[in-house]
Amino acid sequence: MHFAYAAAMDDHAADVIGNAQLPARAQRPWWRDAVVYQVYPRSFADANGDGMGDLAGIRSKVEYLKELDVDAVWLSPIYRSPMKDGGYDVADPRDIDPIFGTLDDFSALLADLHSRDMRLITDIVPNHVSSEHEWFRQALAAVPGSSEWARFHIRRGRDGGPPNNWRSVFGDIAWTPMPGHDDWWYLNIFDSTQPDVNWDNPEIHEDFISTLRFWYDRGVDAFRIDVATALTKPADYPDAFYADNLDGVDGELKSVVPYFDRDDVHDIWRSWRAVSDEYDGDRAFVGEAWVDDAVRQAAYTRPDELHTTFNFVALHTPWDSKRLRDVIHDSVTSAAAVGAPATWVLSNHDVVRPVSRLAPKDSDGVADIGEGRRRAIALSLTFLALPGYCYIYQGEELGLDEVRELDDDVRQDPAFWRSKGADGFRDGCRVPLPWSGDEPPFGFSASHSWLPQPARWAGVNASVQLTDEGSILAMYRRALTVRRDRECMGDGVLRWLATPTDVVAFERPGADAVRTYINLSPAEVEIAESGTVLVSTDAAVRVTGGVLSLPASAACWLSH
Ligand code: NOJ
Repeated sequence: MHFAYAAAMDDHAADVIGNAQLPARAQRPWWRDAVVYQVYPRSFADANGDGMGDLAGIRSKVEYLKELDVDAVWLSPIYRSPMKDGGYDVADPRDIDPIFGTLDDFSALLADLHSRDMRLITDIVPNHVSSEHEWFRQALAAVPGSSEWARFHIRRGRDGGPPNNWRSVFGDIAWTPMPGHDDWWYLNIFDSTQPDVNWDNPEIHEDFISTLRFWYDRGVDAFRIDVATALTKPADYPDAFYADNLDGVDGELKSVVPYFDRDDVHDIWRSWRAVSDEYDGDRAFVGEAWVDDAVRQAAYTRPDELHTTFNFVALHTPWDSKRLRDVIHDSVTSAAAVGAPATWVLSNHDVVRPVSRLAPKDSDGVADIGEGRRRAIALSLTFLALPGYCYIYQGEELGLDEVRELDDDVRQDPAFWRSKGADGFRDGCRVPLPWSGDEPPFGFSASHSWLPQPARWAGVNASVQLTDEGSILAMYRRALTVRRDRECMGDGVLRWLATPTDVVAFERPGADAVRTYINLSPAEVEIAESGTVLVSTDAAVRVTGGVLSLPASAACWLSH
């Protein structure tokens, strides 16, 4: 479906911003307004008792997802893989790994979701394959100049070392010696078990298009594209410029590197868009595009490219009212400039859980997790009210914190090992979910969980929260239902409201308008307001006698 969109004023002083003149919600493609729930399959629910989540486990929780009222589920990779990077090392992109189940299990999950009006987004990983993919196994048995080598970036070394100074996102150099071939190296922007494929080779294009069709033909609604800023590499492999002390994901955002966000990667997205447009049912793409600049990021969602990208600038918003207002302004206006919906992400399987990330520390460095939780929920309720669509990472709806106390011997994140412990944050947000009961594995599995769960999760497991009207889960369920029922929510425009310092507020205008307030100050504020509280993150939020009382670190939605 194509519509003409008009961006409302693109001026920081403008009080109305976003996609104006949209069709009614019922006529819009689902991906403009959706709330998407990210399932990290290894850690969601284990049906066969091997300690690792699986597709049958996800099926057993479809009703939970429906009651939460999400519109779509995004599955991190479930393809055949040696799991050196949690499945982002794909050995066969057109088959399911046995730890998760079978293609029939996948079809059954898809049918379960579709029968309850939910969509399914699956991952696709085009920058690299597993070193156990048949292409790399063939390359290992082949020689320089062969068609098997032409599928990868295999280069001669320089001065007895690697071909250039490129660094892996996971730490260390991005080149690994090609076994059996002195002074030849293959490129791996991530782990050495994830060789980058060569997008100058037409065979790579054709094969990925076959993968798209394979899953679209089975009925998947959308793809989440892994590292959508990577793929193409400059033919002369020039050195990168790295600012000192940068490494890992932050380095990716700040360094000037020739292997990310190149102009020619957009040609690939145009060709993929042409494929998705052939299918009915509003098939879509969401690109994982870590770009520091809102305008360059928006380029990925030009009308003939990807439908949406994740908004990682928003994910990193600190607890600061000016920064929050700026991030909202930049995200909404730059998305609207290309007619795309803005997206709102607080969390995923690659970052420290927001409860811990936003927790302030005292002078001894001790984090106040309770305050972090208040802030995370308040930001989340704010994001859910903004124009565009939103992601919830599994466990966010339970208010889970990061598990920082993992022993090294249980960690699996290759980034932890490659960076010698400096970058070991990704296992802590991947600890399996607590569903029920007083002790680990908290209903996740009949046996154990592949990463140990902390005992403190007994009080916050899903079954406890489902019976408590004051729980975080209950708040999410109310918010998602209000969001679904109101025409003014999802994509569209916002109107900024005047507020005291350290409060951010905006209205989603319309006959059923909703006003959102978030208090980022350390004290309660009172604001002249006469609306009715629809949802709040704190039971003490109230409107009486024309005054809204908003406690510190609280957020609320009000109707007229
Ligand atoms: C981004 C994924 O989200 C992350 O988990 C993975 O390690 C890298 N891409 C490499 O595929």
